[in-house]
Amino acid sequence: MHKTSEWLQSFSSTGPRSDDARVCTKISVTGGKGGVGKTSIALKAAQELAAAGHRTLLIDCDSNLSNTAIKLGLPLENKFEKILSGEAAFEDCLQRRGNFHLLPACNGSDAVFESRLNFDEIIVDIIRSHETEYDFILLDCPAGVSREALTLNAYCDHRWIVVTPDKSSITDSYSLVKLLATRFGITENHLLVNMYQTEKQFQKVVLTLSETIENFLGVRTQILGGIQRFNVSAESFDTFFLSEGSNEFNRNFVKLLTGFTEKAGGPRTTPFPGADLRTYEHDAH
Ligand SMILES: Nc1ncnc2c1ncn2[C@@H]1O[C@H](COP(=O)(O)OP(=O)(O)O)[C@@H](O)[C@H]1O
Ligand SMILES: [Mg+2]
Repeated sequence: MHKTSEWLQSFSSTGPRSDDARVCTKISVTGGKGGVGKTSIALKAAQELAAAGHRTLLIDCDSNLSNTAIKLGLPLENKFEKILSGEAAFEDCLQRRGNFHLLPACNGSDAVFESRLNFDEIIVDIIRSHETEYDFILLDCPAGVSREALTLNAYCDHRWIVVTPDKSSITDSYSLVKLLATRFGITENHLLVNMYQTEKQFQKVVLTLSETIENFLGVRTQILGGIQRFNVSAESFDTFFLSEGSNEFNRNFVKLLTGFTEKAGGPRTTPFPGADLRTYEHDAH
């Protein structure tokens, strides 16, 4: 097994816990290919988990092409640079809305580009220092199969592989699962089919990918569910998908999420006391 996986195992989160220790569920939203919906899904899932009362942190792991704040219409501040330089603490860089906390990354930052620090190690350090404060930590992973992305995927309790019915997305997801299995010993992932158009197409992707993964890699695939392609401009999709209004899309997504939390044995619901549910705030603590 690879050196990085030994490094991960050295602080495995599966050690003994006292009965009252809070258990934080860590999920990476990933998939290999870009443009398949990882960021939209990670944001939506984090918002809905928070709305259900879970203290939820979303960490944007696309270190220098961060999209989470953009999709929420929040200012791009590159504050993460200050975490790298040690000038700011984690808390100073959060965007908070009720139970939902977001740690955005950077956009075209020279400091990130020049940094010799390993982004995966920084993120793992942040998780380890703050996991007792959250019920769920979600990672919005970058596209690609870099060592850093794989390490973050392997560190999480669950990996949601987002795939579209497109051949290149299916191939990239398979490659990701293969590297996670061979380099990190990961034997189970969840599959979420995004942008499918017919039920038949959804079933075909699920069957093709999960059987290939099982037969060639011996890796299990849990089916998380699917999200249909919504025929609007890309920008309108996010506005619609991330809105709080009740529509069929939202209801289906919440059902998918509840299916996951129930099976994964979701943690206790412990909302932040006195959190403002309507507006984003930062530097509030
Ligand atoms: N089910 C869907 N139907 C229509 N458009 C979608 C759907 N899911 C995502 N999109 C759009 O696809 C684009 C890429 O999504 P994004 O979440 O940024 O992907 P990634 O993070 O994988 O690169 C976004 O503009 C998003 O609004
Ligand atoms: Mg993205």
